[in-house]
Amino acid sequence: MPARAATRRGTFITLEGGEGAGKSTQVRHLLYNLRTAGIAAIGTREPGGSPGAEILRKLLLSGRIARLGPAAEAILFAAARIDHIDTTIAPALAAGTWVVSDRYADSTRAYQGARGQVDPRFLRALERIALGNVRPDLTLILDLPVTDGLARATARRTTGEAPDRFEREDLEFHKTLRGAFLSIAMAEPARCIVINAGGPEEEVAQAIFEAVSHRLIAPAAVKQARHG
Ligand code: TMP
Repeated sequence: MPARAATRRGTFITLEGGEGAGKSTQVRHLLYNLRTAGIAAIGTREPGGSPGAEILRKLLLSGRIARLGPAAEAILFAAARIDHIDTTIAPALAAGTWVVSDRYADSTRAYQGARGQVDPRFLRALERIALGNVRPDLTLILDLPVTDGLARATARRTTGEAPDRFEREDLEFHKTLRGAFLSIAMAEPARCIVINAGGPEEEVAQAIFEAVSHRLIAPAAVKQARHG
């Protein structure tokens, strides 16, 4: 068996986007909608999603790794991802449970690739090693104007809470990120769907569930009916 290959029976969905796109809220809505449709699903997040990866999350978001440069950050995000896959994602998928992750490998492509300081071949190789065959079946890219997202992220912070390592980056960085996520969606239309995240929470939740139903639930039901 090649390294980092996993048995897959469940479906893997990731939510991606810049700061303040509402991903965590939408993961909760999607889990509720999937479970209501009778689908066993778990929610998780990156960086984090397993005890080991949560330790790396604290370190990465504190900004203490930033001084080592974006390549070192990318390696640590990948290390967290490997633990997350091995401990949480792969076992759930093997058991037939659907997994919904708040961020995954596209965040490394976009964030660590944003300033153009890391060789894209290095990022691609790292992604191949970290993911193996644990690639998303569907990625929802939550898109909204950068200034709206940053305003939401600021409003969400409790009084006195400092912005994290990436929220502190300048407007140019966040604009580049938005472009990077949209480019990923354009390059991989079979996997990615762009969702307008600027509207009311319930409308965004509905758009997401429609996309998931269209791409994943309806085809699965048809396949089951054919073979069942
Ligand atoms: P969040 O969970 O609040 O979105 O915070 C995670 C932060 O980490 C966010 O600013 C994006 C950043 N990040 C990366 O830079 N690279 C990655 O691979 C991942 C998963 C997150």
